[in-house]
Amino acid sequence: MNPFYITTPIYYVNDKPHIGHSYTTILGDVISRYHKMMGEPVWFLTGTDEHGQKVQKAADEKGISPIQQCDETVVRYQELWKKLGINNDDFIRTTQERHTKIVQKILQDLYDRDLIYKAEYNGHYCVPCERFFTEKDLVDGNLCPDCKRPTNTIVESNYFFRMSKYQEWLIDYIQTHPDFIKPAFRANETLGFLKKPLEDLCISRPKARLSWGIELPFDKDYVCYVWFDALINYISAIGYGVNDENFRKWWPECHHLIGKDILTTHTVYWPTMLKAIGIEPPKTILAHGWWLSGRDKMSKSAGNVVNPMDMAEKYGVDAFRYYLLAEMTLGQDSGFTEESFINRYNSDLANDLGNLANRAIKMTVRNFDSKIPQPGKFEELDIVLMNKAHLSIKTMESMIRSLQPDKGIAEVMNVIRATNRYMEQTAPWTLAKEGNLERLATVLYTAIEVLRIVGGTLSPVMPEKMAKLLSSIGAPVDCTFSDLESAGSSTPGTQITDIDGLFPRIMVEKEAAPAPAKKQEKAPVIKEKKPEPIVPEGCITITDFFKTELRTAKILAAEPVPKTEKLLKLQLEVGEEQRQIVAGIALFYKPEELIGKTVVIVANLMPAKLRGIESNGMLLAASAGDNLKLVTIDAPDFPSGAKIG
Ligand code: ME8
Ligand code: MG
Repeated sequence: MNPFYITTPIYYVNDKPHIGHSYTTILGDVISRYHKMMGEPVWFLTGTDEHGQKVQKAADEKGISPIQQCDETVVRYQELWKKLGINNDDFIRTTQERHTKIVQKILQDLYDRDLIYKAEYNGHYCVPCERFFTEKDLVDGNLCPDCKRPTNTIVESNYFFRMSKYQEWLIDYIQTHPDFIKPAFRANETLGFLKKPLEDLCISRPKARLSWGIELPFDKDYVCYVWFDALINYISAIGYGVNDENFRKWWPECHHLIGKDILTTHTVYWPTMLKAIGIEPPKTILAHGWWLSGRDKMSKSAGNVVNPMDMAEKYGVDAFRYYLLAEMTLGQDSGFTEESFINRYNSDLANDLGNLANRAIKMTVRNFDSKIPQPGKFEELDIVLMNKAHLSIKTMESMIRSLQPDKGIAEVMNVIRATNRYMEQTAPWTLAKEGNLERLATVLYTAIEVLRIVGGTLSPVMPEKMAKLLSSIGAPVDCTFSDLESAGSSTPGTQITDIDGLFPRIMVEKEAAPAPAKKQEKAPVIKEKKPEPIVPEGCITITDFFKTELRTAKILAAEPVPKTEKLLKLQLEVGEEQRQIVAGIALFYKPEELIGKTVVIVANLMPAKLRGIESNGMLLAASAGDNLKLVTIDAPDFPSGAKIG
């Protein structure tokens, strides 16, 4: 039995957690519970990233010490995980000694082996912003691109990790290990990044500038760069360097879950660090997409976050877990709205699953004295349904192995819907009325058997609710995949108990049933609707126009799409987000002349694939005859992501 080690990113403690953090952690929890159901030894790690500028800044703003900031914020994460039913096996904080001493041990070892060296860093420094810029970042010769104040040329000594040494090895590793970076288009993104020469990584910060970090063991004037420190948590937590037996138990059977925002650090820095240390890379790095608020990334800095604690309290933990897992296609972005939550809850949980459980259990209570009935002869309809349910167990298992829980869940929902259709077809209420108890027994037995399978298969997603469902039909709550697969496990004669309101319907105001009008009551006031304006032919309204979301975007990288004449693959910065767009402009622009241009894109165009490459949006261009020119913004430092209209 292969062990299974799964991790989430360790989250910054500069602010409280939001839906994005909850998603990755719930995903980790759900996948680890499924692997336990496969009978595998499982280790699930999460934690917090407590060093670096961001945390120091948050502490400074509050006038508290950085460690106070960490201690206060870490509790918020730990409390939320408890509330959300997260069953992690360990929680690492990078300020713990078990971690800091391993980071120092690794730094010393790499330094001794000349894989870390000291060099002069030559660049431009903006003192008010405390940031380095390269020559090409500057505006008007010497000005800071952010605050527009003059920069100083500075020469600062720092320590560098010889990352460039491993470029060829990494490219080859990614190409020969298709399961290493998932989904596959993210592997291509990393390979694209690796087309440029890989530079050595600056892994130190002089204490004079930033003191909140792990001190370099070979130079006490410096602290370690926060990412170099943070990534090591994945091995320090399982005993690398101190408990070799435990470390070897879990490594390299390791799967990192991350959001697409931290792809490069995980797929470039981390494997090259491990290579230098002399450890195999993890098995998988799975990068999921972002939860968006409207079209924007939900983020602390953008101030558009949904509080997961509120959602869980208002609608229940399990419904919240289900929604996040079922709604997001792994790899893609998803929009979060309370409305879409309510819609999915009402249709999948209240309507499909809740109704099925209600009907089957209530009819058994009523007609068979609350005992699972002895089925008669199974008919084809029953067998087809039972087979479908059994197949969904296999599907779930294989979808979990390929890290696609959303697809597994969708298949179980199909079984539930098929069972509701089965109930309509077999009409047990009519059988009861007609007194056809033998057929009624078979139908209800079949429905309960499906509930047992569905309840078990969904229990990692909704542990509490499914435990309630399973106990009400007298089935074991903690079951493995092989328990679920053994056919006909519902035992006739087992006592069942009625179940009420497993998933009560969420009433939205506009759908609440109107109160019956009393005679004397005033007639309801019907708000007069504004008449629709008459739109002359060939014109659109301003609302029509704003359906197209135009935004500025800065071109970060461009490369030709192989085997095509016209297509360029572009990486663009759109505010906080990075996007890929494939554009048919190769005959008019060379890739290098595009870099740094601020263009205009249609930001809400449905994602498409061009020659198999994902494209998220469209560039605006004017064409006249054989000529084509991109619509650009005529100011070098105009922000990307700005709305146009
Ligand atoms: O990056 N949608 O920490 P962080 C989906 N400390 N997931 C989201 C999200 C969103 N809108 N926002 C955040 C760091 N996440 C580093 C990691 S690991 C060695 C160090 C999730 O607090 C997602 O998993 O910024 C993302 O990668 C992570 O939170 C970033 O959390
Ligand atoms: Mg972040």
